[in-house]
Amino acid sequence: MDRVVSGIRPTGNLHLGNYFGAIRNFIKMQDENDCFFFIADYHSLTTHPTPDDLHGNVKQVLVEYLASGLDPDKATLYIQSDVSEVAELYLLLNMNAYLGELERCTSFKEKVRKQSENVNAGLLTYPTLMAADVIIHKALKVPVGKDQEQNLEMMRTFARRFNRMYKTELFPIPKAFNFGEELIKIPGLDGSGKMGKSEGEGNAIFLNDEPEVIRKKVMRAVTDSGPQSMNQVKPEPIENLFNLMKVVSGEETVSFFDDQYNTCQIRYGDMKKQLAEDIILFTTPFLEKIKALSADNEYLRKVAKQGADKARESARKTLNEVREIIGFKTF
Ligand code: TRP
Repeated sequence: MDRVVSGIRPTGNLHLGNYFGAIRNFIKMQDENDCFFFIADYHSLTTHPTPDDLHGNVKQVLVEYLASGLDPDKATLYIQSDVSEVAELYLLLNMNAYLGELERCTSFKEKVRKQSENVNAGLLTYPTLMAADVIIHKALKVPVGKDQEQNLEMMRTFARRFNRMYKTELFPIPKAFNFGEELIKIPGLDGSGKMGKSEGEGNAIFLNDEPEVIRKKVMRAVTDSGPQSMNQVKPEPIENLFNLMKVVSGEETVSFFDDQYNTCQIRYGDMKKQLAEDIILFTTPFLEKIKALSADNEYLRKVAKQGADKARESARKTLNEVREIIGFKTF
């Protein structure tokens, strides 16, 4: 069983895009690997959330991952800040992380451009914290999307550098477990691109949306005035609607509306009604679990503690070795 580590940003409510992206893959991985999945709340402090927002978002993400099928008895599921050993390893790794290489990271440069009013040291050293997250458990695989490739490269650099500097093989060099190609991209409802939280109200369907909300959002999805000729290529907003339907509806339903489109008889209103009902069938079990879990703080506390205990045990072991190697020894 390979050791796998991945961080989850505490973004609050999850949408269908998150589910068909990372979550479903995590759930598959937990059966065949020794997985450590954590909620990256230290990382999220770079954006200065209020204490209530921070706590609420961490809770929501925990609840929704559990509702989606992440199993705390299969994977080690924990909250990053419960394992303060990570912060200590981060401090130690920062001593060998250079300003130049950190400044050259594209995600840092992007942040400098986008949030020039808050370019803090946490943003600069984000890759060292990520490295600490992963190598503290001596992980071999890190399942991440394309946007994290550079952070992963930095992580490998820091692990190699430590090994070289102290003439040790303590840290295995982690590899990206890239499920990039397998990811089903879920389009948003605004006619373009992908489903996302920051893409504007109504673009995303959240796992905890009530049926009425889903109906409203789908009915407002962007369409056009209809096909002008038989078998024409679908413009992007229409293609997106069909792609969403392929994910939640049966094949016959999709081909029924496809035929209607190709013969210029389609009524988008009918298609949207069907799509909304199929999304609701899909999300209702999630919604129910989310509601039950949200009300069960005792269970959540138990899950978080169980994960923290397991993660700390693994982290403590590595950190003791690191301290010894560095020269922090008892007299
Ligand atoms: N930076 C990752 C993201 O934005 C989250 C993350 C934090 C992470 N630490 C990690 C991912 C360690 C993989 C491994 O999605």
